Amino acid sequence: MYTKLVQTTLLNCTLDHHDIERYKNRIVQIHDELENAHEMIGWIDYPLQNHDQLFNEIKNVKREICAKADVLVVIGIGGSFLGARAVQDALTPYFGVHKDGIEVIYVGHHMSGAYMHQILEYLDDKEVYINVISKSGGTMETALAFRVLRQYMERRYGEEAIQRIIVTTDPEKGILKKIADAIGYRQFPIPSDIGGRYSVLTPVGLLPISVAGIDIAQFMEGAKKAAIELKEPDLELNHAYQYAVMRNILYNEGYSVELLASFEPSLKKFHEWWMQLFGESEGKERKGLFPTCVTYSTDLHAIGQFIQEGSPILFETLLHFHEITDDYTVPFDGRNEDGLNYLAGRSLNEINATSKQGTALAHAEGGVPVIQLEMAKLDAYHLGYLIYFFMKACAMSAKLIEVNPFDQPGVEAYKRKMLELLINK
Ligand code: PA5
Repeated sequence: MYTKLVQTTLLNCTLDHHDIERYKNRIVQIHDELENAHEMIGWIDYPLQNHDQLFNEIKNVKREICAKADVLVVIGIGGSFLGARAVQDALTPYFGVHKDGIEVIYVGHHMSGAYMHQILEYLDDKEVYINVISKSGGTMETALAFRVLRQYMERRYGEEAIQRIIVTTDPEKGILKKIADAIGYRQFPIPSDIGGRYSVLTPVGLLPISVAGIDIAQFMEGAKKAAIELKEPDLELNHAYQYAVMRNILYNEGYSVELLASFEPSLKKFHEWWMQLFGESEGKERKGLFPTCVTYSTDLHAIGQFIQEGSPILFETLLHFHEITDDYTVPFDGRNEDGLNYLAGRSLNEINATSKQGTALAHAEGGVPVIQLEMAKLDAYHLGYLIYFFMKACAMSAKLIEVNPFDQPGVEAYKRKMLELLINK
């Protein structure tokens, strides 16, 4: 039976029979192009392949790290950072660490000297492992942080540092690969045909999130389910393609901003992963929707006014998880000075969900197109599914506006300028 984990609904923008007819052949054509492409599409079938050996290695390394360290420091940027951080934040407790993992912290995703100084101080009274992640092996932010952390580990652990540094990189090329081979660091491969922002389901994401305590078997099960269901070329049956088409219709109607919104603060980093995925995949050749994000209800008190009544440049994609593991019931208070006894006995998650409904209706009434993506539960399985869903939708979206979903030529511009300035100083 064909069951869909992501329920895509339209509040006030429509994907009607005419849209389906208009897009369906183009969708099949792009679907076939993607399935049969020769470059950078390794992520499409990755969850369907057998990775038992790799997953066992990750499990063993995780066990070793958790036994010998208090903290895993992950060094990486962009696609080599955001996915792991997103899943970790979404699925570990707001306070403290997950019962099945240890603390995982990140560095190398910017060049703040203050952050580096403080992270080294923070590590001083803790046992440490390092996971440096870079596909190219030559990204400035990552390489700089690795230089510092590698020396730090050598000072603290001497020879044992070799055991405590784990490298995730391209299996064949790059400076990091060369260093790892020369020194003998343990390595996990980033498949050559999977680009950074499509790599969270590979060791890039799996090692850090496993150490953080997340069940990667469940995570990959969800991704596998998505990879099977979303192999469907028929637009009427493929929700990822429906989402891509809705975005395309709105883009062609003149909307230039997509606002991803959700109601659980632990999804903030997930929003950032989504922003990078769509921003780097679509924003080129002077085309593409600008992806941005908000967390409600916090941001309703910040940017809500603009969304409701400001320039009509944006549409909203509301991401909602029906079940969140922890909850709290509003207590009855005999004094009732705050007048809130009408909410006594109701759960905060229920009130939050009602605020989601109210927000969607208010924004729709205010003329903002609202797409709703509904997931049953915020857990590893559903997040694995959702990540694959977005990657599939993103590749389709980029192809619909005729740009290459897998390159990022614009990112090179700042690197060139920065290098010129640094070398000439
Ligand atoms: O999506 C991408 O390809 C980029 O965001 C990269 O992940 C990012 O630039 C980091 O690259 P690397 O893994 O080569 O250090």
